[in-house]
Amino acid sequence: MNIERVGVVGGGQMGAGIAEVCATAGMDVVIREINEEAAALGETRLRRSLERAVTKGKMSEADRDAALGRVRFTTDLEAMADRQLVIEAVVEHEPLKLEIFQALDNIVTSAEAIFASNTSSLPITRLATCTKRPDHVIGMHFFNPVPVMRLMELITTVVTDPEVAANAEKFATETLSKTVVKAKDRAGFVVNLLLVPYMTEAMRMYEAGHATAEDIDNGMKLGANHPMGPLELADFIGLDTMKLVADVLFEEYKLPHYAPPPLLVRMVEAGMLGRKTGKGFYQYPT
Ligand code: 3HC
Repeated sequence: MNIERVGVVGGGQMGAGIAEVCATAGMDVVIREINEEAAALGETRLRRSLERAVTKGKMSEADRDAALGRVRFTTDLEAMADRQLVIEAVVEHEPLKLEIFQALDNIVTSAEAIFASNTSSLPITRLATCTKRPDHVIGMHFFNPVPVMRLMELITTVVTDPEVAANAEKFATETLSKTVVKAKDRAGFVVNLLLVPYMTEAMRMYEAGHATAEDIDNGMKLGANHPMGPLELADFIGLDTMKLVADVLFEEYKLPHYAPPPLLVRMVEAGMLGRKTGKGFYQYPT
């Protein structure tokens, strides 16, 4: 199957980024958001990122306009009916994801269509088996910011059709120019299983008064050449997402070092979600 029509469910940071790379690669893209306000926010995200690409000299104005012309926002999930690949990128809430996959199963007409989830950590098998086409469901895990990060994790389950996996890999490498890392369907896949405990360990270190946030971050930026320190990166990802992923890792492996540290839990309860709310381990202009 030659993929030309892509659907993205969710127009947040990740969904808008995924839609952007698909549209830039020449795909016809439909993004579904929950209401008009969320759709407008998603469109602003997409426009800003494309603008940034132009400013950075990565894209011409003509290519930006062409990419924008290939994207349509909708609040109607039925608009996914003719899609050949649908990528779900909503919040890490399993009941919501299950509801979306079940609905897509009834909406998307082609039996060949691929359903993908951009979940950070939830088992793809559970999303796959709630549909009548579990062999066509796969994990396509992108990294934030999607237009900049070169990796995509490809997650297959014990029931994934090998041809579906090959198609999704071809799409990621040849169409989107991403490098693919393959992982089994275990919580955290490869990257988050390593990255999330590293960031929560930094939070424990900070909470214990071992070092300041700035020194922890500078330590890893200057001593290990990371572009962002662990606390800065946690703020960038979103502390709510961080907590949700840590919860899933702990539930899967039952190892204490995967559990979200109390400070992270309290910050999320207090609405300190990092960059998106202007307050996390650091303060940001809102
Ligand atoms: N489109 C295309 N290219 C862009 C762009 C855009 N919208 N915005 C920036 N770029 C390019 C720039 O041109 C530059 O490329 P160059 O090095 O070839 O010149 C490069 O991206 C870096 O851009 P900047 O220099 O403007 O930006 P910064 O130096 O401030 O870097 C950053 C920003 C790329 C976010 C960097 O800080 C970084 O890599 N941080 C770590 C990000 C990370 O680890 N992400 C993964 C999070 S985990 C995750 O997502 C998984 C989830 O499940 C939790």
